[in-house]
Amino acid sequence: MNEFEEERLVSPDVGFEETEEDNIRPNRLADYIGQAKVKDNLEVFIKAAMQRREPLDHVLLYGPPGLGKTTLANIIAAEMGANLRSTSGPAIERPGDLAAILTNLEPMDVLFIDEIHRLNRSVEEVLYPAMEDFCLDIMIGKGPSARTIRMDVPPFTLVGATTRAGRLSAPLRDRFGVVNRLEYYHVDDLVTIVIRSSKILGIEMEMEGAKEIGRRARGTPRIANRLLRRVRDFAQVVNHNLVDYATAREAMDRLEVDELGLDAVDRHLLLAIIQKFGGGPVGLDTLGASISEETETIEDVYEPYLLQMGLLQRTSRGRVATAMAYQYLKQPMPADMAAKATQLTLLDGDADAGDASGGNDGNGRDGGKGGRGNSGNSGNGDEGDGRFTRSQNFTS
Ligand code: ADE
Repeated sequence: MNEFEEERLVSPDVGFEETEEDNIRPNRLADYIGQAKVKDNLEVFIKAAMQRREPLDHVLLYGPPGLGKTTLANIIAAEMGANLRSTSGPAIERPGDLAAILTNLEPMDVLFIDEIHRLNRSVEEVLYPAMEDFCLDIMIGKGPSARTIRMDVPPFTLVGATTRAGRLSAPLRDRFGVVNRLEYYHVDDLVTIVIRSSKILGIEMEMEGAKEIGRRARGTPRIANRLLRRVRDFAQVVNHNLVDYATAREAMDRLEVDELGLDAVDRHLLLAIIQKFGGGPVGLDTLGASISEETETIEDVYEPYLLQMGLLQRTSRGRVATAMAYQYLKQPMPADMAAKATQLTLLDGDADAGDASGGNDGNGRDGGKGGRGNSGNSGNGDEGDGRFTRSQNFTS
């Protein structure tokens, strides 16, 4: 944790206040906003499994933190009329721990394993026959007299969640029948989530206030709900409890969450690349050391959004700040970058005269697509459909 992290409002990690989140989390698929493809598919698979009176096939959910993987696991269990048992990869240390969990399941239970990429290999091996044939192979004894016995486990559904699908071993990944990637949310969906949460929390919310929160929430419902709570505090103290546009804006400005949803850590990271490493490429380890952040946190938490917004590129030689990052942070561009940005603007048919963001868009987009196999990289062709993308805010 560094100097910024302590108060990081836009961290998608679960905070202690987020137990209140349990109240605002949707419990049923019908109340779940956004992720339309995932939702529609799950609805069909759940219905079909229910009709056959079978457990739903195992489900893998992956994508950046805070997008609703745990919420969906809860919903799957509720929709199946089953119990949810929750644990996480690092919590299951030994094969025996997992065997105990599995043998204690009730038929049709949903077992949720968060951070499933952090299961150790010996534990994973217990999972394979359990997922495939609902049985466990238990080793009795040691040495030449050792033998295995097979034990049945109740039919169950495993819901695995990870920010890193690429870190899952192939045999584990192959055993999930339903694999869903969660995407950053459209601003419109975040606005709807903010309005829904406001109603549940009894917050008087004007549409323009909700829009401002939605816009700055980094495409992430957990962050939207967290910003909502902080904005509520400001509204309570300075605006008779009413969250309007001006209050929302002022609150988030004071919290240093900017118009793109970037906070001090994001800006620090980009400025480090620009000012200390000439814009990059800089290796992840070097970058992490220079801003006192764990490389894993950079990869899982900060980068996915910066990539999505076209502010950062991931190349084989390291991280690179895009022309758009220079422009957004008002940093002087190296001459060749400035020339390229201007050139691209000229080529871009309907680009506003003098606005370099069209050219920069091209830059960021290439970068977004570069990080093959990385779950955090959402440069996946979702531009132009109203999803949370950089272009909307690059008017200044
Ligand atoms: N709260 C958090 N995520 C949500 C979602 N996807 N839909 C509705 N409310 C939410």
